[in-house]
Amino acid sequence: MGLGTIAVLTSGGDAPGMNAGLRALTKLAAARGVNVLGVVLGYDGLIDGEHRPLTTNHDGELWPVPSVDRAAGAGGTVLGSARSKRFLTAEGRATAAKSIAEAGVDGLVVIGGNGSLTGAHLLATEHGIPVVGLPASIDNDIGGTATAIGVDTAVNTIIDACDRISDTATAHRRAFIVEVMGRDCGYLAMASAIAAGADAVLYREQKRSEDEVVQAVEQAIRRGFTRNKQRVLIIKSEGVRLPGTKLARVLNDRIEGDLVRVTVLGHLVRGGRPSFQDRRVASRMAYAALGALADGRSDVMTAWQSPSEAAIATGDPSVSLVPLDAVLDETDALLRGESPIMKWRLETMEKISGVLGV
Ligand code: F6P
Repeated sequence: MGLGTIAVLTSGGDAPGMNAGLRALTKLAAARGVNVLGVVLGYDGLIDGEHRPLTTNHDGELWPVPSVDRAAGAGGTVLGSARSKRFLTAEGRATAAKSIAEAGVDGLVVIGGNGSLTGAHLLATEHGIPVVGLPASIDNDIGGTATAIGVDTAVNTIIDACDRISDTATAHRRAFIVEVMGRDCGYLAMASAIAAGADAVLYREQKRSEDEVVQAVEQAIRRGFTRNKQRVLIIKSEGVRLPGTKLARVLNDRIEGDLVRVTVLGHLVRGGRPSFQDRRVASRMAYAALGALADGRSDVMTAWQSPSEAAIATGDPSVSLVPLDAVLDETDALLRGESPIMKWRLETMEKISGVLGV
């Protein structure tokens, strides 16, 4: 294969499973005699030429450095991450491209979300750098792939939190609003509402006014307790701009008994040990990414069970490669609620909304 040295970076919001991807990439590369440089702090590190070896040479044989191996079971990212403002400028990207050339890098792997993949696309198209992206975002807001690294762990963390909250909610016969991350995409709220047995779910894509949100939750709470439920659980996505604390206050003014409480899970959902599914997805995507670079491919993202028409098959039945321009288009459509997979999700959530509180 033509690869001598590759570089890898993690960028944007960290996601559980990023480290598993780093481990897989480093071990696979080392086994093929490909040297790996870990870029520190995302695109900022790329601009500043800050990287450290993830492989070491022992008498002509490459070994992964032990820290990459050890970190694979932990959340976060050993390389650090950043939302680089400098990389948004053409000047920043030109400096990054120069620093990649100076380090003798033959290909770059970018592990991150929408903004990070946009950066990867620009590096490939503006500077001809061979780049492959791995989708990583707990929000599941990336087009062209059924899931992204971090989603499964995040949903499991939310379910665990909801189960715990249900214990105390049941003991006091209370209603809880649990707010989860998802700035532009309500997937985490939708998926966890079903899995945790919530009575109602609120997400940005419903496009409800504040009054409509209050009415929907009030109705769900009243209905739940009328039906002798021991607890009522409402999952709210952060994308619904009415803050959970304010919502709880308004509801306590309208419903007798001071029984509404709110828990904002926030960044708690982004941390923690990656699940098997996230390690599996990250490792198999890393395998495909290395193969893609070795085959001379660039400007593509690895995708899991891709719904995209632009998907290119790999030897792995669940992993394909999707050109980054198609990924970015499909991400835009997904965030507008217009990609086929998001349309299906929204229609299905609408259909079952009455069933949630039964
Ligand atoms: O990773 C995406 C995300 O989880 C969003 O849902 C959330 O709004 C955002 O990260 C917050 O991240 P930060 O605090 O790093 O800006």
